[in-house]
Amino acid sequence: MAKVFVTRALPGVAIERMRRAHEVRVWDGPLPPEPAVLREAMAEVEGLLCLLSDRVDAALLDSAPRLRAIANYAVGTDNIDLELTAARGIPVGVTPDVLTEATADLAFALLLAAARRLPQAAADARAGAWRTWEPAGWLGSEVDGATLGIVGFGRIGRAVARRAQGFRMTVLSTAQTELGELLAVSDYVSLHVPLTARTRHLIDAAALRQMRPTAILVNTSRGAVIDQAALIRALRSAEIAAAAIDVTDPEPPPPGDPIFETPNLLVVPHIGSATHAARALMTELAVENLLAGLAGRPMPHPAG
Ligand code: DGY
Repeated sequence: MAKVFVTRALPGVAIERMRRAHEVRVWDGPLPPEPAVLREAMAEVEGLLCLLSDRVDAALLDSAPRLRAIANYAVGTDNIDLELTAARGIPVGVTPDVLTEATADLAFALLLAAARRLPQAAADARAGAWRTWEPAGWLGSEVDGATLGIVGFGRIGRAVARRAQGFRMTVLSTAQTELGELLAVSDYVSLHVPLTARTRHLIDAAALRQMRPTAILVNTSRGAVIDQAALIRALRSAEIAAAAIDVTDPEPPPPGDPIFETPNLLVVPHIGSATHAARALMTELAVENLLAGLAGRPMPHPAG
């Protein structure tokens, strides 16, 4: 029986299966454990099931001398220093596939919401500003037949492309089109790259300037793929028409962050995989990974 630490209560039933094999402690706070608290909890821990909000760095690994398996409750791994875990021989597992369709749905929901200005329209209706049918009110952009540029053409990018076919969109992706050209010709741009040193601030001030003034930017990948200050400036100066983002840098944005005051910017709280089914299946995959890692077997869904 190994000591396992799970950094949050998770949807689904898989944690119970792990409890039958191991001594499991689930952090029951409404917020993630502070780094110092997590480090303190790690002294005896052999298996860690962590979230994208937990940083697995040298300080954490140094505080966990017995750690031999890590399962990330995410498909992204930018919260984990993978070079360090590899150097220490600690396998890391992720949760691919089960969240692909849910995340692609959200990317498309954000695209449609921004195109048709749903947040403004809904807020106005609620505030009593719906006085009559307005011929020129709440006008948005057509999606049917428009050009969608997909930056990052992995599982989720391809799932977004499938949805776009139903809207008869012309789909470009960075798998076949150079980024600058894609940005220059797309009506909608959707980001689906992992956050790495290479993709940090991939969409910076220069990239935003390459986009059309009518373009809408959607981000369901990681906040730091966009230079957020540059995005705020681009929206304030109407360099692009709108943006809809599920991810920010940092997360959550601190109180009073200018992103909440920026015009034509829709922000939702990192809910790409937030369906009952996807989140329960993510728990299943994370538990499968951890059980395998602790048993010395290859993880079924390894990182990288
Ligand atoms: C991931 O898995 O990386 C998402 O951002 C959360 O589901």
